[in-house]
Amino acid sequence: MRQSTRRAVAELNAQREYTQDASDAVALLARTSHASAFAPGALPPMALRRIAEAGRLAPSLYNTQPVRFVIVRDRAAYAKLRAGCNKSRDTFMKARGVFATLNKRLKNPAFVRGLERQRAGDVLPEHGYAIVTLHDDRLTESVEAASCALMAMQLEATALGLASALCSWTRGLSFQKEMVAMLGVPAGYKPFTSLIVGAPLAPLVPSEKQRRPFDDAVTWL
Ligand SMILES: Cc1cc2nc3c(=O)[nH]c(=O)nc-3n(C[C@H](O)[C@H](O)[C@H](O)COP(=O)(O)O)c2cc1C
Repeated sequence: MRQSTRRAVAELNAQREYTQDASDAVALLARTSHASAFAPGALPPMALRRIAEAGRLAPSLYNTQPVRFVIVRDRAAYAKLRAGCNKSRDTFMKARGVFATLNKRLKNPAFVRGLERQRAGDVLPEHGYAIVTLHDDRLTESVEAASCALMAMQLEATALGLASALCSWTRGLSFQKEMVAMLGVPAGYKPFTSLIVGAPLAPLVPSEKQRRPFDDAVTWL
């Protein structure tokens, strides 16, 4: 094979590998669905470590790394975390009117519908393992960095065949002294949204996502 042909074939193969990687991310997202329940039992060895590793490797502005992770796998600690999240929810629900006056975004219909679904019951599913992200509130874009880490971790959980759920109620834990102590939140940091993972009740399969149509969501220039 001539040198130039070899180079062209290598380039094509590289392109194909790239395309496969890109569609793998889409395929993982199609299998990721919000779990409201998990099967009881232990996770595969190293699963939680691998998921947290995905979070650790996620990007941040100027590599400031303003995100830390607390893996709550101990059953007693997870039970306390569940109680803490329910308390966050109950406190928010009580003062909801005041918050909504201050923050107009809380009147968004989709948000209100979601809130109504979580009005009662446990906000964290039973049999879960939590990875609470903490973000350094003193650094710019720490919320974005924490969000990147959460998405990376959720994709890794799906790649491992685990069910997962995101829970924002852990953000309210910064107002609960005993939760801050249990999680060992460093000075300047705040609990952010958490990823809850667990054994799936059924194998994860691709499903249609309820999202706005592509041409509505995406503009080409
Ligand atoms: C940042 C973030 C925080 C979320 N927090 C919660 C939450 O506290 N409670 C909840 O029921 N769902 C929460 N969700 C899940 C969403 O409400 C929604 O159910 C889920 O993203 C739908 O996923 P799917 O359409 O891909 O299955 C959160 C999602 C994101 C992205």
